[in-house]
Amino acid sequence: MRASAIIVAAGSGRRLGCDVPKAFVPLGGRPMLYYAIRALAAVKDLTEAVITLPPEMLSEGRAVVRGTGVDIPIKLTPGGSERQDSVRIALELVSAESEVVAVHDAARPFASPRLFEETIRAAYRAGGAIAAIPVSDTLKKVDSNAIVATAPRAGLYCAQTPQAFRRELLTRAHRDAIRDGIVVTDDAELVERIGARVEIVDGTPLNFKITTRDDLAIATAGGADLDEAAAELVTLAKQRDGSDNISVQLVRVRSVERVGIYRGRPYKLR
Ligand code: C5P
Repeated sequence: MRASAIIVAAGSGRRLGCDVPKAFVPLGGRPMLYYAIRALAAVKDLTEAVITLPPEMLSEGRAVVRGTGVDIPIKLTPGGSERQDSVRIALELVSAESEVVAVHDAARPFASPRLFEETIRAAYRAGGAIAAIPVSDTLKKVDSNAIVATAPRAGLYCAQTPQAFRRELLTRAHRDAIRDGIVVTDDAELVERIGARVEIVDGTPLNFKITTRDDLAIATAGGADLDEAAAELVTLAKQRDGSDNISVQLVRVRSVERVGIYRGRPYKLR
């Protein structure tokens, strides 16, 4: 099976309030875009990638690609005015030999190669597959700052990327969207509306999208103190159990270790 990746990175990141486009905002000393490209290096069956960029950032984008050392062919293109336009533009540059296309937001720098592989494999079998996580908060409908309803969350998921599809399916979905004047925020919806099956692959809250300054703060938090925190956990556990026979397993998101950004529960005591 041959698969291509599209990384959409042409957004302005206005909500982040930075003076560079979001994909170029530094995270752990590297532009955010670096991490999504880097993840591709370890994805099986991936033969090429297309990246959409703000038109004025093409040469900066080329430098980021070079810095990753990823050796599959990578095409860069200016994006469109909406995310959907960017995906459509990139899709036109995808090789006709690719059977599956995985679309991913540069704004999700913590996606693992395994998540790409799982969505690609599921899409090859089912037609489409997206990373998603079950909704864990209770959902409220609010009007004028007051709750008017509580929505049952059973069966509800938060859609993430990567989102992978059979190439012809995604191409047809985008063509139909243009014909029907439909603009949406993810590719799955376009594929759903042409009646195709789109499955869910287990995403993770670690694969969150960086949208606001708070997200950026969370993404950059923690790293330097991690070893200290681990040592403290071991000490506490030894005191609690009165035993020296305690080991610590370090759980890190891929790429994160390299740049000293740590998320979630980095240490598991066992
Ligand atoms: O704005 P938002 O965070 O939802 O964008 C999701 C992804 O789509 C980002 O990685 C952004 O760079 C990309 N995008 C794009 N072209 C646009 C708008 C957004 O490639 N016109």
